[in-house]
Amino acid sequence: MLAALVVYYTLPVLASRRRRDIPGPFLATFTNFWLFYQCRRKKRSLAVELAHKKYGKFVRIQPNHISIAAVDAIQAIYGHGNGFLKSDYYDAFAGPKHRSIFNTRDRDEHSRKRRAVSHIFSAKSVGQFEQYICNNIRIFVGKWNGLCDRQQTEVEATYAQIDALPWFSYLSFDIIGDLAFGAPFGMLSSEDDLADACKTVDAAPTCVAAIEVLNRQGEVSATLGCYPQLKPFSKYFPDTFFQYGVEAIDNMAGIAIERVKRRLNPDVLTKNTRVDMLAKLMESRDEHGDKLSRDELITESLTFLVAGSNTTAVTLCSVLYFVVSTPGVLERLQGAIDEAVSPGADIPSFDMVKHVSYLQWVIWETFRVHSAFSLGLPRQIPKGNAPVDICEQTFYPGDVLSVPTYTLHHSTDIWGPDAEAFIPERWDPTTRLTTHQKDAFMPFGVGPRACIGRNLAEMELKCIVAAVFRNFEFKLEQDIRMDYREGFIRKPSSLKWVEASWDKHGSAYQKL
Ligand code: HEM
Repeated sequence: MLAALVVYYTLPVLASRRRRDIPGPFLATFTNFWLFYQCRRKKRSLAVELAHKKYGKFVRIQPNHISIAAVDAIQAIYGHGNGFLKSDYYDAFAGPKHRSIFNTRDRDEHSRKRRAVSHIFSAKSVGQFEQYICNNIRIFVGKWNGLCDRQQTEVEATYAQIDALPWFSYLSFDIIGDLAFGAPFGMLSSEDDLADACKTVDAAPTCVAAIEVLNRQGEVSATLGCYPQLKPFSKYFPDTFFQYGVEAIDNMAGIAIERVKRRLNPDVLTKNTRVDMLAKLMESRDEHGDKLSRDELITESLTFLVAGSNTTAVTLCSVLYFVVSTPGVLERLQGAIDEAVSPGADIPSFDMVKHVSYLQWVIWETFRVHSAFSLGLPRQIPKGNAPVDICEQTFYPGDVLSVPTYTLHHSTDIWGPDAEAFIPERWDPTTRLTTHQKDAFMPFGVGPRACIGRNLAEMELKCIVAAVFRNFEFKLEQDIRMDYREGFIRKPSSLKWVEASWDKHGSAYQKL
């Protein structure tokens, strides 16, 4: 046993002997435990950022993993044609039966999957989704109007206090449920974080708190990614973070099992007239020209659910926080939206808002400062590849490399001395924006493994942000700083204190 442990811990060190000249936190030079610990603290990207400040451009964050804080490294590591693969970090995200488009590490399998689902995210297909997105936004705005009405009547407040994060999560879940499975989860209407889940296809459904489950599964998978071999044993760790996390992974899969089961019910199938993601997945063929099995449908639709819900919700929450807390931004954004949106259109269409520059800058600046994906996404140089030179350092097959997104998005060398500040105007191409900054900006990743849902996410964000600021006035009661915690994505802990009033355009709004 002892010998096995010694081999387990020293192998990565021996494998990385050529890279020992690269500095890093002492623990990280011979064990994965340093990174594991930072993930468990939910502070990975901040810890890596501090390490770069201390050690410079190259930092060893695991024995075989080098973080490179340099714009020049982005294309070299993530770009098309270099052959780098996702590292074993992604094994912690994989289910027992099938790999999904997101967690497969095999290049050919990934290309096949990407080809099979790319039509779901084409401009035409995303255009078909808009009506369902707008229906859910209408319910959301109606609910916030109701909250404003209630609090204005009951406590005679001018503004209603709103806990914004759960509301944005209900909205994002309902939208992705609607787009992926042909019906929303109903979180907005029930005003609750509840979804049905089945342990197996034949099991009866039980209710789970979907948003909580998603958060826990992201955090535990992001942590176990540092020791993917330990995943099967993690439920025995003496830490409830792992026990609840492993349960959450099963429950998350259970939500997809239940939704696919419901959607494939012959009664629903024959009456269905909707073109949802699942219907499109059912048209896809594998490498042998066969349709995807039920298990594969569950795996891929679960990926859409996970990838397309929290990412949008946390970004919306950050947009609201930054816009309301930065002097002058709320007024300028509302002015730009009002100018573009037709009178009486309380739920703006994408056509009305897609070219509003200030709205675009606000969203980009939120992506930069908040960085939903803050961690350096790890890529491995495949065995059999030739050594590669990046930023005048040579790296070898087996080495894992990443570019820390948070560090680049906050670098004063790239963005100037005001890098920490929220300044939408920095995206004005006629004044400040430089090519170097554009190259350093990677909210959706880069290269063959970049986000396939980008068009959908951008449409969703523009329509929701425009509707929110068109319909409500906001203020923050106190001078507050938003706290974040990091799983696979970086999330606000809450935004409880935002206050909304519907008197801006309330009279024009048809209450539900
Ligand atoms: C604000 C919203 C979003 C952001 C910031 C975002 C960002 C990203 C990033 C950085 C990646 C690369 C992850 C990695 O390399 O490990 C990714 C992958 C992916 N995203 Fe998104 N995403 C968003 C919304 C969505 C939506 C709405 C969907 C669709 C349902 C989606 C589906 C996917 C999929 C399927 C992948 C894996 C792609 C592949 O490996 O080929 N994402 N996303």
